[in-house]
Amino acid sequence: PAPALAGGARFPFTPIPARTDGTVHVPEGYSWQVVARWGDPLFSDADLYDVTDGGPVAKSDRVFGENTDGMESFSYRGHQLIAVNHEFANRKVNLPAAQGGTPADAGDVRKLQNLQGVTVMEIAQGLTGWAVVKDSPFNRRIHHNTPIRVVGPAAGHPLLRTEADPTGTLVLGTINNCGSGRTPWGTYLTCEENFNSYFGMTVPAEPAAEKPAEGTAAVAAEPARPTPEQARYGIGPEDWGYDYYKWDARFDVSTTPNEPNRFGWVVEIDPADPNAIPVKHTGLGRFKHENAEVTLAADGRVVVYMGDDERGEFLYKFVSNGIYAPGAPTGGLLDDGTLYAARFNDDQTGEWLPLTPGTTGMDLPGICIHTRIAASAVGATTMDRPEWVSINPFAGEVYCSLTNNKNRGVKPNAGGDATPVNGPNPRETNRYGQIVRWRPRGGDHAAERFDWDLYVMAGNPTVYQDSYAGSANINAGNLFNSPDGMALDSSGMVWIQTDGKDSNAGDFAGMGNNQMLAGDPVSGEIVRFLTGPKGCEVTGLTWSGDRRTMFVGIQHPGGSWPDGSGLPRSSLIAIRRRDNGLVG
Ligand code: FEO
Ligand code: CA
Ligand code: CA
Ligand code: CA
Repeated sequence: PAPALAGGARFPFTPIPARTDGTVHVPEGYSWQVVARWGDPLFSDADLYDVTDGGPVAKSDRVFGENTDGMESFSYRGHQLIAVNHEFANRKVNLPAAQGGTPADAGDVRKLQNLQGVTVMEIAQGLTGWAVVKDSPFNRRIHHNTPIRVVGPAAGHPLLRTEADPTGTLVLGTINNCGSGRTPWGTYLTCEENFNSYFGMTVPAEPAAEKPAEGTAAVAAEPARPTPEQARYGIGPEDWGYDYYKWDARFDVSTTPNEPNRFGWVVEIDPADPNAIPVKHTGLGRFKHENAEVTLAADGRVVVYMGDDERGEFLYKFVSNGIYAPGAPTGGLLDDGTLYAARFNDDQTGEWLPLTPGTTGMDLPGICIHTRIAASAVGATTMDRPEWVSINPFAGEVYCSLTNNKNRGVKPNAGGDATPVNGPNPRETNRYGQIVRWRPRGGDHAAERFDWDLYVMAGNPTVYQDSYAGSANINAGNLFNSPDGMALDSSGMVWIQTDGKDSNAGDFAGMGNNQMLAGDPVSGEIVRFLTGPKGCEVTGLTWSGDRRTMFVGIQHPGGSWPDGSGLPRSSLIAIRRRDNGLVG
């Protein structure tokens, strides 16, 4: 068996040192292997898919997508299924090198659209480890053009209608799929995060050169300008370089102003039914969703915790009106209910503030579509970029990564609130991040009051002696920055994945590459379990049905990982104990 760590009986492995190299490391007694890489065929008609120079557009919707992120494992009638997000596309990796990351035509844009979204796939264990079951009837790609139904309070609202969809109830695609979640009824939740980055505005053509009539001013061309509501969501004239709006008109906000309102939602997918149309749940609010952590209140109502990953935005929860009963219909359980935003008080208490017409002065569809504005109206607490939320199944406590905040005091977003230092966000320049934890009063996730503390403040005690040294459970042996992905396992251990600076110098000296650590919720002890290849972020974590394999995602690796030559390929990996023991 893997050796136990002296003084840390909770960890059945020997912690590993920080690394700065180009591959993955796990503790002695453990092994890792690649399960699926960007471009790997899910169907045999895509067997020849070649990513050498970014890959062709043909069959790009039949292969494993790029930049794996949140994922969940489902055991269904003896089949091991994985649903996994493909958050974004690295344009310099996906397009021919000569183009420098700029799409040259509509086909390039279509390829980028195909290689993002979600993969549902069956995997199985053979003599060489885990592999994709090619042509499994469960295999499916959901991408930026897949039809998706809209339900809940904002479905059909005028702000969701477009010329192509006058009903406002059928959207093409789910985009920027970041974190994940799962429902008690066995479906997958994928969360739309930086959707604004795909939208731009073309400048309207100059008006015809006409001599203005005597005594009237010349009419200048109005530059494209976002509305205050669009600006609060980061929608502006320029996208982040995908150029969709130049080749695919619905991403041009100056001509299709409502299209961005159709993104920023939590989407439900049935992994067991490849023909089921995915569903956007407007009841869960619209913001830059990180993940969706689902649990049940004491009385059986459904509770969903959700972070909005933007500096100075908020933490949310949803509580359904109806209760979940196994086997009973689940319609409305993610839509009919109340959204709340969190207020953290400096005395380590907190409240969930309901977002209702009475508290916000907005109507219900408006609260769902412009949730950020509703949360500002009730005075929720601005946070240092809430990333993953995860529940400790043994303690009725909830953890949220607050990844970092380099812009304290700078207005995070047009129309956003001021971002002073506050209880759970105690540092002026937050380079390192922290994990906040709260316990709902009475152990009931529907409770409107809670008590909070900081599980860890990351820092660097080899560089600083003040608050930037971090909390007492940070030491030279477990340095990390920017906690992001997080999950608590069946033994109650908290796994922390990082998406931070990997310079290994200055403020970040001794932290090495991005990594995954394990923490004991009770003692606070944190130790390093995995290091990723240089340039990557470690994100996405789930387990096989028998918990003898842990699946981890390696996003945007550098170098030529994992092939050793050619382009870097984001991959899903499997980690096992050499003695076939349980892994978490
Ligand atoms: Fe996609 Fe906030 O991470
Ligand atoms: Ca993340
Ligand atoms: Ca992050
Ligand atoms: Ca990422």
